[in-house]
Amino acid sequence: MGGLEKLKVGVLTSGEGTNLQAILEACAAEKIGARVCVVISNVANAKALERALRFHVPTFVLTQEEEIIRVLRQHGVGLICLAGFMRILSKEFVRQFPNQILNIHPALLPSFPGLNAQRQAWEYGAKVTGATVHFVDERVDHGPILIQAVVPLSQDDTVGSLKQKILQEEHRIYPAAIGLIADGRVKVEERRTFISDL
Ligand code: GRF
Repeated sequence: MGGLEKLKVGVLTSGEGTNLQAILEACAAEKIGARVCVVISNVANAKALERALRFHVPTFVLTQEEEIIRVLRQHGVGLICLAGFMRILSKEFVRQFPNQILNIHPALLPSFPGLNAQRQAWEYGAKVTGATVHFVDERVDHGPILIQAVVPLSQDDTVGSLKQKILQEEHRIYPAAIGLIADGRVKVEERRTFISDL
């Protein structure tokens, strides 16, 4: 990382913000060459906002996409991370940031897209599920996959225990994915991503 400028990250969130917390901690500990420079929530009382303030990151509560884009641009964001952001971005939004938006999904895509992915996997009786960090394209839970982590389901798992196990993996792979991008190691070709050695 040395004297290189850090990647400026904007995080979009709606709720708890545990992924945001993991990202903030990885940045603060300089484990990754990135810095969260703005956190935007579409929900006024999201716990994620408190977490951001504890790390002295400016926060905004915004619902209009034009406003969100303006604030992201004002902060010079080079990467947008969706972390529990419960709104679907429009095609127009996504087109403005090609391969510059990441999302985390609590399943192994393309299995169990959409809402309540952990419950979907549990009810389906899957033996493994997991978490996926992927680039955002114009379709929901669809863009090129950057990192996946596998989580086995045990017979004793409840939906709640499964959520916790998946979250642990999310908190590991989301900062890692941002670190790869910050280090300039990621190339995207069509649906496939390539990670170069340092
Ligand atoms: C996570 O399970 C993430 O995969 C999904 O929404 C949840 C957000 O959790 N997109 P948190 O707000 O980061 O705690």
